[in-house]
Amino acid sequence: MSRQRFENQVVFVTGGSSGLGAETCELFLQEGATLFVTDIAERDILKRFGSEKTFFQQCDVSKPEDCEKAITACIERFGRLDVLFHNGARLGGISTVVDHDVTLFQEVINTNLCGLFYLARVAIPQMRKQGKGAIVSTASTAGLAGDFGLCSYSAAKAGLVNLTRTMALDHAQEGIRVNCVCPGYMITPMTVPFKENKKVYEVLLESIPMHRGADPKEVGRAVLFLASDDASYITGQALVADGGWLAHSGGPNFIKHMAPQVRNPPLSN
Ligand SMILES: NC(=O)c1ccc[n+]([C@@H]2O[C@H](COP(=O)([O-])OP(=O)(O)OC[C@H]3O[C@@H](n4cnc5c(N)ncnc54)[C@H](O)[C@@H]3O)[C@@H](O)[C@H]2O)c1
Repeated sequence: MSRQRFENQVVFVTGGSSGLGAETCELFLQEGATLFVTDIAERDILKRFGSEKTFFQQCDVSKPEDCEKAITACIERFGRLDVLFHNGARLGGISTVVDHDVTLFQEVINTNLCGLFYLARVAIPQMRKQGKGAIVSTASTAGLAGDFGLCSYSAAKAGLVNLTRTMALDHAQEGIRVNCVCPGYMITPMTVPFKENKKVYEVLLESIPMHRGADPKEVGRAVLFLASDDASYITGQALVADGGWLAHSGGPNFIKHMAPQVRNPPLSN
């Protein structure tokens, strides 16, 4: 039996019915959590997890009223809220700012970034009452460095990283820890278009030192760590899980492309 780090704890999840969200829900359940799962769409999540320890409510995180309703419903149903995992997001379009649709830009910011603000302002008072709480968001490597064409997504995820830091400072003395994970490339429905484009996929894998995308559970385990007491002295952090992607300066692979005798000339004295 796995560790039961979330026994008697209530975990609220956004974007929980697909990809990383759904896989992380499974990990939380295995560790004893009771789940309040939300998403803009249900996608048979209750069929997958059963309704014994999982409740689903539709919630569009770009809408403050949906966020307030969902957090309130969670507290009313279970009487507590221990972990808020804000994971719901959309990629938006891939284009320069000149070509980016204004409404789409606003929607991506509203979903990926503002969602945390809308949720946290209702969740934190309950965590404060309980004297403890953990908030984890899914940011991205795109929030720590730029990516070509991802103007709305990168801006939103960078905002999420810094909102995480600010909230961590503001609530540290109340026992509420706030962190985020920054995945690189994960194999999920969001990234299907990358996988389907042979050229893009080849370049993508080549750029990742581990030469593979993450199974979402590999990132989910980082989420559980940050949400658990194992991370009791960790707050305000952006934990990167990217197969070594951001460790690279972007420079050429000298070892791969230069002959050993050129790379290692004989020492002259
Ligand atoms: N897949 C990757 O390579 C990758 C890399 C870095 C970060 N991320 C982040 O990981 C998280 C999970 O994404 P994923 O890869 O599992 O993709 P996914 O598309 O499988 O999951 C995203 C989920 O968010 C939900 N969602 C979208 N808009 C929403 C809204 N307005 N309100 C509520 N829910 C909404 C979707 O319905 C979906 O269930 C996202 O925050 C994403 O930005 C993904």
